[in-house]
Amino acid sequence: FSLLRWTWRLTYLTAIGGVAYIAYGIWEMRNPPEQPEPDPNKKTLVILGTGWGSVSLLKKLDTENYNVVVVSPRNYFLFTPLLPSCTTGTIEHRSIMEPIRNFLRHKKTAVKFYEAEATKIDYAKKVVYINDDSEIKGDISSTEVPFDMLVVGVGAENATFGIPGVREHGLFLKEVGDAQAIRKRIMDCCETATFKDQHPDEVRRLLHMVVVGGGPTGVEFAGELQDFFNSDLKKWIPDIRENFHVTLVEALPNVLPMFSKQLIDYTEKTFKEETITIRTKTMVKNVTDKYIEAESTGPDGKKQLERIPYGLLVWATGNALRPVVKDLMSQIPAQKDSRRGLAVNEYLVVKGTENVWAVGDCAVANYAPTAQVAAQEGAWLARMFNQMAKTEQINRSLAELSDKQEKAPNKEARDKVFEEIKDLQKRLNRIKVIGPFEYTHNGSLAYIGSEKAVADISWLSGNFATGGTITYFFWRSAYLSMCFSTRNRILVLMDWIKAKTFGRDVSRE
Ligand code: FAD
Ligand code: NAI
Repeated sequence: FSLLRWTWRLTYLTAIGGVAYIAYGIWEMRNPPEQPEPDPNKKTLVILGTGWGSVSLLKKLDTENYNVVVVSPRNYFLFTPLLPSCTTGTIEHRSIMEPIRNFLRHKKTAVKFYEAEATKIDYAKKVVYINDDSEIKGDISSTEVPFDMLVVGVGAENATFGIPGVREHGLFLKEVGDAQAIRKRIMDCCETATFKDQHPDEVRRLLHMVVVGGGPTGVEFAGELQDFFNSDLKKWIPDIRENFHVTLVEALPNVLPMFSKQLIDYTEKTFKEETITIRTKTMVKNVTDKYIEAESTGPDGKKQLERIPYGLLVWATGNALRPVVKDLMSQIPAQKDSRRGLAVNEYLVVKGTENVWAVGDCAVANYAPTAQVAAQEGAWLARMFNQMAKTEQINRSLAELSDKQEKAPNKEARDKVFEEIKDLQKRLNRIKVIGPFEYTHNGSLAYIGSEKAVADISWLSGNFATGGTITYFFWRSAYLSMCFSTRNRILVLMDWIKAKTFGRDVSRE
């Protein structure tokens, strides 16, 4: 009986301890301590971007070692893997955004943040020119930021391959604004299709949702859109039932080229069951406001040009270089042969420079442009900068001590300094020399709709491919655990419960 009482008391105390710990965590999160101001005498480390690469660097960086300045037109971090879910309202966009200010406010030493776009990097002058692109501008909206060290993590922009009409009529899926625009356009197409006396051909066009690009972005979006139709749209707007249709257009012979053959087949089969049409070997050549012109290759190898009418066009054909990156490359002779981004060495140093590093989609290091790669690069760079700072500090102290040793008045004083030098040298030897960056591939995951996902997982030096509903639960738990903060995790979880319980919101903002 006494044992039971003690067990009960222990459980009770543990529960109180747990609640107090969480409450303290929340209190601390909401009341960050005062931060020391950055020291302008320290080296200025300028970080461009607040995406996967830059934020992962900032997370692990000891900010007291440098005078850190962050420049990005986005004052938040965006958890891109769940962005396709925001296009249909399965997840609300704010649930996957984390304000960069909150995050920076918890660093040991303050970090300067400027919400601005880097318009030009002058490598020779060691200066970044920045521009305030926001609606509200002060008297000064363009200025320059000098740097000693620079990290370029500006990501990439949407590739259009110069195809006419894409920028004017297509919608992309990279930023929060894109997801909001798509959500609005879906509802607009549905409402306009049900407008009184609308011609049947026009109804069919308006309800034809075309996705160009069979990479993971296109596939995930097509899956989410079909889910939206199956679970909500067709119930609330029965008039669109007959004509709502999703088509995925891909230039290559299959979708998801980075996944294993078995998962490609599984995805294509699932899409077929869900009545999503996949048009492979079909290359879009021109886009107008109402149709796309695509060249398809038939089984006999013959090419034909056809017009595909659409109401919504989502363009997801991969990445292209940002102008600021292109311009920087043009200043560095060693970058002349690089086409896809800033060529970096195994230490992520931009080739042809000494004080510029690049991470993520704007860097070319022979890895795919994914969040996984960007995050690992950022974290590695932080460790390298932390060690560099420690080593430099010890070397500075060593130089001071050897000076002191030379000027020492007698042997006793010289011996004392010698002991200090020995101690410092031991500390220097203890700092582990960091090896070159090595990427660890943990696998690829993609949602394909109808509560199914595909996963190519690297595990115990082997690979295994899996697809289906269990993989979907794995996909969900993996991405939930990877969300930036506990706040994000709770919001995403609540959004999933809300969408499942009440359905997605079909109002047009
Ligand atoms: P980004 O995360 O794009 O960040 C770039 C940052 O630079 C942004 O803050 C931007 O505002 C800022 N910036 C832009 N221009 C400038 C400028 N001129 N000056 C200063 N700052 C600038 N990868 C995965 O591994 N798994 C997934 O499931 C996955 N899902 C995805 C889903 C979608 C819809 C998309 C679009 C991508 C997905 N990716 C995924 C890819 C992944 O998002 C990118 O590889 C990753 O974001 C690259 O990180 P980054 O830091 O290089 O760039
Ligand atoms: P992508 O580069 O992976 O795929 C684009 C596709 O568009 C290609 O298959 C290409 O053949 C096709 N295409 C290009 N031009 C075309 C045209 N004119 N007509 C028809 N098809 C055309 O691009 P995506 O999907 O935007 O992904 C970008 C990066 O982000 C990739 O590295 C990807 O791995 C990563 N990502 C990863 C996700 C995940 O792991 N779940 C999700 C989304 C993106």
